[in-house]
Amino acid sequence: MSKTKTSYFCQNCGAQAAKWVGKCHSCGEWNTLVEEIVHKETKNDRLQLFSGNKNNQQSNKPVLLQEIGLTEYPRIQVPGQELARVLGGGVVPGSLVLFGGEPGIGKSTLMLQLALRLKNLKVLYVSGEESEQQIKMRAERIGVTTQNCFILQETNTQNIFTQINAIQPQLVVIDSIQTIHTSYIDSSPGSVSQVRECAAEFLRFAKETNVPVFMIGHITKEGSLAGPKVLEHMVDTVLQFEGDRNHIYRLLRATKNRFGSTNEMGIYEMNGDGLKEVLNPSEILITNRKEATSGVTIAATLEGNRPLLIETQALVSTAAYGTPQRSSTGFDLRRLSMLLAVLEKRCGFRLGAKDVFINIAGGIKVEDPGIDLALVCAVLSSNEDLPIAQNVCFAAEVGLTGEIRPVNRIEQRISEAQKLGFEKIYISSYNLKGLDTKQYKIEIVAVSKMEQVFTHLFG
Ligand code: TYD
Ligand code: MG
Repeated sequence: MSKTKTSYFCQNCGAQAAKWVGKCHSCGEWNTLVEEIVHKETKNDRLQLFSGNKNNQQSNKPVLLQEIGLTEYPRIQVPGQELARVLGGGVVPGSLVLFGGEPGIGKSTLMLQLALRLKNLKVLYVSGEESEQQIKMRAERIGVTTQNCFILQETNTQNIFTQINAIQPQLVVIDSIQTIHTSYIDSSPGSVSQVRECAAEFLRFAKETNVPVFMIGHITKEGSLAGPKVLEHMVDTVLQFEGDRNHIYRLLRATKNRFGSTNEMGIYEMNGDGLKEVLNPSEILITNRKEATSGVTIAATLEGNRPLLIETQALVSTAAYGTPQRSSTGFDLRRLSMLLAVLEKRCGFRLGAKDVFINIAGGIKVEDPGIDLALVCAVLSSNEDLPIAQNVCFAAEVGLTGEIRPVNRIEQRISEAQKLGFEKIYISSYNLKGLDTKQYKIEIVAVSKMEQVFTHLFG
């Protein structure tokens, strides 16, 4: 009998160590190393896993790039524009997609919806988390029926591959990778070596059979994909489902995509009957008020290639306690501090003794610097208690010297603002170059300094 071999794996990043140490040498996290049993199987063990891999033992020879024939497999068209756009235009055959998100955000719902709506494809939905009954109930709730969706309640990869061989599905969904285990490794499901090994098996399956596999993955408290980072390296695409569980909006982003851009974002709305696509997000993210309120401005931002008008709200009040509070939802707190410092130093506003609260409507997180000007104006509007007209929006970055900096794709932002009925947009004067302002009905105000904006807004 062979000796059992064990190794220590960091549960945060997946690094392996021969001995236990308090601090992971790779990611620097404390107390994350756990002993796991490693079972080295013989090479032939795995070869029968799935049919169709014959030439595994042959080593490949180098081929000239120009001699490689391009056998383009058409992408599998998925129902719904949002998922298709985030994936880069449909599912690439043989791709391995990792789909992460916090518990309860709607990962299983979105994947089941995908499985049910792909009516012409045979889909296998493997669940290690829920019973067939529970999935049936969810499917009833979603209300789509199909003849082609198989549900398998199973957690062992060898059994899963047996069923896959029997059914020959054209798309596989694994819910979730943390509940699946392979018999080749003795450690418990969800541990780093299990997750990595199972993912590797699905990777091999996907590449050899050209069947796309979607794996749902959990997210840790810190927001990274639970289990190791190595998973992200292995897969072709990493999708993230984010949003506040208490808000109805959910954002789908690709944080890695070998077959498309990672800039795209999809917006969904969680309803009683599953997730619904939000095709006109700007209209929803802006509240229609009867009268203008102070501390509210509209920013013309970009999410990927899609212009998005977002409401930014600020509340500035005298600090009740000694240290003023700065709090921000949906916007980077450090950037907020920077913008407040610019206002203080360059423009002479005394915000040092004030509490400042920022909120981006709809539970959305914005990283586009084009929101800066709208945010600064919201802060000032709240500080002065002077409302800004509702038909005005902003699209510019604010620099450290208080200069108004240009943003990318200004034409798209202006067009979207005009489409939604805004009458005035503030942009950086550096953005004017090459911009044909005459083609727009909306009034374009070009500014280059913060001071100019104030005089314009508040007189
Ligand atoms: P779920 O897909 O189970 O989340 P995850 O797999 O990411 O953990 O969805 C969980 C939440 O979604 C649950 O709290 C209930 C809600 N929900 C709806 O509001 N409407 C629906 O039609 C469905 C299916 C779920
Ligand atoms: Mg789930």
